[in-house]
Amino acid sequence: MGESADSSFSLDATQVGQPLVSLVGAGPGDPDLLTVRALKRLRRADVVLYDFLVSDAILALAPAACERICVGKRASKHTLSQMQINQLIVAKARQGLRVVRLKGGDPFMFARGGEELQELARAGIAYEVVPGITAALGAAASTGIPLTHRDHAQMVSFVTGHRKQDSTSLDWVRHLSPHSTLVVYMGLGEAPRIARELMAHGHAADTPLAVVASATTPEQRVLVSTLASVQGDLQSAGLASPALLIVGSVVNLHADLSPLIVQAACGLANDSVL
Ligand SMILES: C[S@@+](CC[C@H](N)C(=O)[O-])C[C@H]1O[C@@H](n2cnc3c(N)ncnc32)[C@H](O)[C@@H]1O
Repeated sequence: MGESADSSFSLDATQVGQPLVSLVGAGPGDPDLLTVRALKRLRRADVVLYDFLVSDAILALAPAACERICVGKRASKHTLSQMQINQLIVAKARQGLRVVRLKGGDPFMFARGGEELQELARAGIAYEVVPGITAALGAAASTGIPLTHRDHAQMVSFVTGHRKQDSTSLDWVRHLSPHSTLVVYMGLGEAPRIARELMAHGHAADTPLAVVASATTPEQRVLVSTLASVQGDLQSAGLASPALLIVGSVVNLHADLSPLIVQAACGLANDSVL
């Protein structure tokens, strides 16, 4: 295929006429891990539609007069359906407001950001995407578990622990190499079952597995286990969502690399640079 001129770069988010929706990634939790662009968009927002995973500290960065609407979804509790969320974003944008649609991590990583943009495209409303640090990268950095390492893994897969409604098994399990790193989002409740399926597809029972909960926040907790032991270890650990699983021999590096990791204080508000 030849080169094509990409007209998407002709839209300047600061000059484009209203309405404009900014689909913004809020990062994994620590407000210091917001991008500069995300902070700029928050500071000039008229309305922020946010998910449960977005912390109060990040919401506080929007102006006092900004309307804050929680449209978060949890497995057991849906504030609004996805269709209602889409319609609300369109309605707010049509009022000429500067709309920030704020999602935990990155808006294109297991976050339905693509679906929301499709709705905006259908409505003819301009948008921009501000990427965020996804939970896997935040968790890796704050636990000393590099997702790739020349001695351990040359490949990393990001997958969801949610199975399709009519499916009893996880499609991705059979495609994974045992010599790669696997990160499972939304896999805490299914961790024992995922471990069993991985072992059934040739992954050794002693393959290391880490469960990282509330990564990059003061509540961060890490459980290091193996495929064979994770069920029992999780029962005694009592970890809560949000949490992800990291599977593979890179997890063994945690013991060496984590002791000297300095966890950044969540101190954006006191940072004179910003
Ligand atoms: C609906 S997905 C959203 C992912 C998000 N868009 C991202 O890029 O990180 C929610 C899942 O992300 C993971 N997650 C989000 N924040 C996390 C955190 N601070 N620590 C660990 N896992 C996290 C958990 O697996 C959680 O169930």
